[in-house]
Amino acid sequence: MCGIIGYTGSSHNAKDAVIEGLKRLEYRGYDSAGIAVFEKGKINLYKSKGKISNLENLLKDKNVSSNCGIGHTRWATHGEPSETNAHPHTVGKVTLVHNGIIENYNELKEKLLEEGVSFKSQTDTEVACAYIDFVYQNEKDKLKCLIKSTDEFRGSYAFGIIFEDEPDVIYATRKDSPLIIGITENNENFIASDVSAILNFTNKYILLEYGEYARVSKDKVEIFNHELRKTTKEINIADWSSSEYEKDGYEHFMLKEINEQPKIIANIFKKYSTDPSYIKNVDISSYSNIHIVACGSAMHAGLIGKYLFENYDNIPVTVEVASEYRYKNQLITPNTLVIVVSQSGETADTLAALRIAKEKGAKTLAIVNAIGSTIAREADICIYTYAGPEIAVATTKGYTSQVAVLSLLALEIGLKKKTISKEMYEKIIEESNSIESLLTDTINKHDEYLNIAKKIHEKEDLFFIGRGIDSAVCMEGSLKLKEISYMHSESYAAGELKHGTISLIENDTPVIAVATDINLYEKTISNIKETKARGAFSILITTDNISKESTVDFADIALTVAKTNTFIQQIIVVTALQLIAYETSKLRGCDIDKPKNLAKSVTVE
Ligand code: G6P
Repeated sequence: MCGIIGYTGSSHNAKDAVIEGLKRLEYRGYDSAGIAVFEKGKINLYKSKGKISNLENLLKDKNVSSNCGIGHTRWATHGEPSETNAHPHTVGKVTLVHNGIIENYNELKEKLLEEGVSFKSQTDTEVACAYIDFVYQNEKDKLKCLIKSTDEFRGSYAFGIIFEDEPDVIYATRKDSPLIIGITENNENFIASDVSAILNFTNKYILLEYGEYARVSKDKVEIFNHELRKTTKEINIADWSSSEYEKDGYEHFMLKEINEQPKIIANIFKKYSTDPSYIKNVDISSYSNIHIVACGSAMHAGLIGKYLFENYDNIPVTVEVASEYRYKNQLITPNTLVIVVSQSGETADTLAALRIAKEKGAKTLAIVNAIGSTIAREADICIYTYAGPEIAVATTKGYTSQVAVLSLLALEIGLKKKTISKEMYEKIIEESNSIESLLTDTINKHDEYLNIAKKIHEKEDLFFIGRGIDSAVCMEGSLKLKEISYMHSESYAAGELKHGTISLIENDTPVIAVATDINLYEKTISNIKETKARGAFSILITTDNISKESTVDFADIALTVAKTNTFIQQIIVVTALQLIAYETSKLRGCDIDKPKNLAKSVTVE
């Protein structure tokens, strides 16, 4: 979702530094881009619809030389993707870029219209810009002007702002949308939505908090609080290096990230076994109920967690999408643990759900990948997944690392509560030593995934079915396929299909069934047969303890993955499903890493 970058300094051409930053922010998802740069003391805007390459083409013949600029990738919310609606926006002396939504923009717009202000775009951002300019006409102290203006804004925002009458200085502030200040010792400083945008220049950064206002020039970064007192901020060092943002020879980031999973998952298990401060000393065994709250794939990881916590720890668990949880009666008791799961640590609904849970007195635990993100900082306890930067919009290693952490939590609780015996625990830990090779073997079944993709890529509808924990992994497999291949796919509990959806099965409709739980295997097979009897093209994914030959009656294709324990089985299964989605998307000619309309970091409701 929207990305912000700003540069002020004398070591680089601001235009180049800002464009470089924008490219690093592309992964967040966007549909237009723009920059504003000071050129000979005057602010000039360059904007274009679509990819950043369009903006680069626009700039190609212009000899832009600048010491300061701000840039933005916009993911349309208020108003279609267009050059006019793209950021930056200028009104009067103020030019700005914005991430978030100003919810009371209509109210503010009416007030400004009465004052004779006119608007060019349909955006809430232009209204914010006009409002700041309006306040600036009477309040010439820029920081005071920003404080007075933002006091009137409802909603979420991260702003990068430049004033026509103060060249080469960037102002910034934020509420509920992330913003960092990148620091260097080379006469240049930055503002950015996240560290990925600045890593080619520096790994030092300051986290701007709600209620803080930054004034950034090439050799000075000053942070003020709402009362205009200067605050001293900690300088953080980013762990992730800029090379982690490269494709590293892979055709797509998604493929690279799928291939990183064996090491990442093995490292999580290793860290758990060798570092007692990681997971082991997080004692959550005394809670009588757990709410898992998240969005998208992170919520699907929660579904796996639910199965494990309920089956192995006897703890009742509800899993809910954060956008619903935040507006319902959460039924939090003193004994409720709320687990929020988020790769980015910035998802607006998940963050809001976390804050509500805290307000209502729940103990909160976050499972997060992005180090130092808002959710990681605000939860009572944070367990990092250490998956490294994830660039492809469709999550892969982000999801599997969340599942790994949830599995280990379930295992740890079970051991503490003695619902899992010491022998069983030790066997599972022993088996987890082979997770790296099991995942590598799974990834290496490339031809089988391609074969499945060839069979399904021309279809428009597809179904996933499974029972128990397999049903949870089907949800993720189905989402993966539809988000990157644009095929219609639905995931159903295998026994539920006959209650309506089976009427959609036609000749050759692909049905992908996952059956790894031996206790439910025959039940799932009956459900596959029901679809087969109605013409379905059936693809069975099961484990290698079941012979492929025995499946010929009902499976048009049978794919087997290694059999292991329930705590890691689904990480293996989902890797196969990710690769089926990947190969299908490729055959359909889709933009695998940046699927249309989707955003990586969803920082608005
Ligand atoms: C977006 C992404 C999904 C992700 C979801 C939650 O929709 O495209 O891949 O699962 O947000 O993101 P989070 O960062 O909170 O895990």
